[in-house]
Amino acid sequence: MRFFLEPFHGKPTARPPVWMMRQAGRYLPEYRELRKQARDFLNFCYTPDMTVEATLQPIRRYGFDAAILFSDILVIPDALGQNVRFEEGVGPVLDPVTDRAGIDALNADRVLDHLAPVFETLTRLRRELPDETALIGFAGSPWTLAFYMVEGRGGVDGSKLKRMAYGAPDDFAALIGVLEEALVVYLCRQIEAGAEVLQLFDSWSGIADETLFQRWIIEPTARIVARVKERHPNVPIIGFPRGAGPMGAKYARETGVNGMSVDSQVPLSWAKENVAADFVLQGNLDNQLLVTGGEEMDAAVRRIMADMAGRPFIFNLGHGIVPQTPPEHVDRVLHILRGGK
Ligand code: CP3
Repeated sequence: MRFFLEPFHGKPTARPPVWMMRQAGRYLPEYRELRKQARDFLNFCYTPDMTVEATLQPIRRYGFDAAILFSDILVIPDALGQNVRFEEGVGPVLDPVTDRAGIDALNADRVLDHLAPVFETLTRLRRELPDETALIGFAGSPWTLAFYMVEGRGGVDGSKLKRMAYGAPDDFAALIGVLEEALVVYLCRQIEAGAEVLQLFDSWSGIADETLFQRWIIEPTARIVARVKERHPNVPIIGFPRGAGPMGAKYARETGVNGMSVDSQVPLSWAKENVAADFVLQGNLDNQLLVTGGEEMDAAVRRIMADMAGRPFIFNLGHGIVPQTPPEHVDRVLHILRGGK
């Protein structure tokens, strides 16, 4: 069994397996060089020669225990027929879905064809990766995808999304329903193409109150997990309900995921007390400590290792690596995790 998968089988590991969210990306000079060759970011995401290379770059440089498919969560709205583009210095921009007509225009039938380059990337990666490296597939959760689809961009407060969820629950149910259908086929096909673990990114779960969190985060996630597991019972699924705070405990108990990534605001000691002993936790070094480095970072890494010793755990950040991160700070974290002084 690949080392990365051991925590999911209740095996105690001498050191925690490690990968880092956004381990591929602009903090790496070799990524910036590769990125210049593509017209735009979506085009990059649909070109297997580039996505395979981008996925492998951090594996060659650091030897992480797992590689994550290089893609983006917003390929799903794009595959459903919504206009998605990435603007320099802004991030993703979508023509927002505002009403029932916009929701009804989304079409889940094209998802597998449209995302064929993603599956090709996974198949090629499984052939090219070292034997000891696991391959992670991923998708955005329905709630977080709906956030971008309704708001049209990130960096906003989510008021449009919440008003649709509270004020037009039938329309919102239709939107979440299309996303569930698309995600089940997408995730199953990722596994069939070579993914050995899945992560569901719920980057905007922190704006939901308790009722929204239950109905639009826990319940859809539980349905997706159950349907993927019907076809692929042995593939571990990690959920990442970022910003969920105490509602993370309920998420861990009720969605059926095998593991949960926790953000840096959640104390691991709290997470540990609020999930089952065999439930895998992942996290949670502050991504800004990876920018600043030094003794503060070293101490935080050692504290996380001490807190999680003896239970199933995967080392990661609380959120993705930012472009300002010095690559040698990642080396330093790995050196400590591997037992170095
Ligand atoms: O290494 C990896 O982790 C795999 C690649 C990956 C990307 N996006 C590449 C990317 C993954 C797993 C994602 C997930 C993703 N995308 C999320 C969930 C995780 C999170 O950060 O909360 C979200 C919310 C998105 C949507 C998205 N994509 C935003 C908000 C942005 C703009 C912000 C930014 O960093 O530029 C993107 C663009 C994006 N996705 C880039 C990369 C490497 C940068 C674009 C570029 O290189 O030109």
